[in-house]
Amino acid sequence: MMQRTEIINALKSTNFNQPINVRGWVRSRRGNKQINFIALNDGSTIKNIQIVVDLAKFTEEQMKPVTTGSCISATGILVPSQGAGQAVEIQLTELEVYGTADPDQYPLQKKGLSMEYLRTIAHLRPRTNTFGAVFRIRHNMAMAIHTYFHEHGYFYFHTPLITASDCEGAGQMFQVTTKNLYNLKKNEEGKIDYSDDFFGKQTSLTVSGQLEGELAAMALGKIYTFGPTFRAENSNTPRHLAEFWMIEPEVAFIQKEELMALEEDFIKYCVRWALDHCMDDLEFLNQYVDKGLIERLRSVVDTQFVHLTYTEGIEILQEAIKNGHKFEFPCNWGDDISSEHERYLVEQHFGKPVIMTDYPKDIKAFYMKMNEDGKTVQGTDVLFPQIGEIIGGSVREENLDKLNSEIERRQIPMKDMWWYLDTRRFGAAPHAGFGLGFERLMLFVTGMQNIRDVIPFPRTPKTAEF
Ligand code: 4AD
Ligand code: MG
Repeated sequence: MMQRTEIINALKSTNFNQPINVRGWVRSRRGNKQINFIALNDGSTIKNIQIVVDLAKFTEEQMKPVTTGSCISATGILVPSQGAGQAVEIQLTELEVYGTADPDQYPLQKKGLSMEYLRTIAHLRPRTNTFGAVFRIRHNMAMAIHTYFHEHGYFYFHTPLITASDCEGAGQMFQVTTKNLYNLKKNEEGKIDYSDDFFGKQTSLTVSGQLEGELAAMALGKIYTFGPTFRAENSNTPRHLAEFWMIEPEVAFIQKEELMALEEDFIKYCVRWALDHCMDDLEFLNQYVDKGLIERLRSVVDTQFVHLTYTEGIEILQEAIKNGHKFEFPCNWGDDISSEHERYLVEQHFGKPVIMTDYPKDIKAFYMKMNEDGKTVQGTDVLFPQIGEIIGGSVREENLDKLNSEIERRQIPMKDMWWYLDTRRFGAAPHAGFGLGFERLMLFVTGMQNIRDVIPFPRTPKTAEF
């Protein structure tokens, strides 16, 4: 059998009148009694290759299993295409059917299936144009991220997924245990004794690799993590997953301004990468999913992000309320900024991404560096059009006494954090970092509306299928 040519290469080939073999999944077959046209896709590109079948050479019986969704190997002669829409096509000489797909049962027959329905067949949806495009872009974004950090002298550092500490202090962790849940013993105080559990203590899936990332930055200087993180928050929104991927750089010897510059440079690099490497897929998404997509991507690459303090942001929101704008949630100084506020600032007020800084300490995590006012901390979140918060970042409190008093004030159990505090005891250095939600970046870059549709197998409250 001939060696397979991937369709992305076949479409570019000018080896005309030579034999070629392609293999893939049939998107459609149409035609008449003399001639059939098969649109074949192998996932290497969003584009199909057209296979032309002369029905004088192939019987109806032979062609019968070639239905939408079936998998075939097609050998033929590569010729310039006579039809519009493609440069080349293949005149079929030899057909092998690898796998049939019963037309009465294959779920991807029709076009225009809803995103909600496609989520129920997440095992098959990668075969649609939309999800093929999304997952090729997802791969490209991962490559962009590793390339960016590698080229800028960062080291990829692997932080644990199972942990005994709650980085964000929000108590939204999935517990990890090998205890027999049908026979849970409690001690006199009514508490579960974890000393005989697998790790000898209570453990959970991590919400963030930051704390271990900070340790690494205190040795390697510049590191990043890129891995799955888990949050047991009961948020059923288009922007929250229970299992999502996060990119977390941590850098020694930088301050707030350099951190903000890094956040902006990094995101722009990723978006530019998509424009440079994924144009076929972006053009498809721009046409069928979000007409403003490519323009929005270009504008982010070309624009300078706004720098705005939380306090200034609240003033703008208050002004908007005075002028009759209605928000669902309150936004007085001290309140957490919610995504409607973020999107008002980004989409309506400034019309470009915003880096918001210097938040009230009580709405942020314990590790953020306190400002001299004693009220605000040096957080540096990036807010994006359509998305809201895409990056959560901060300068870290490197002073042991200040960090300790914050930990005490919040009554964070310190027993399991001794190792984190050691970085402040031995050669403490000013440092800063951030976390980018990979799927939030994917939402922005693809124009998809729901975070469940930019990860292959979404995990959300009450759903863990596939
Ligand atoms: O703002 P967060 O909670 O920050 C941290 O976890 C820090 N430890 C990061 C750091 O400084 N190293 O989360 C960071 C980002 C958010 O801005 C958002 O993009 C994403 O992670 N994110 C989620 N994405 C999807 N589903 C969820 N439930 C998310 N929660 C946070
Ligand atoms: Mg955050």
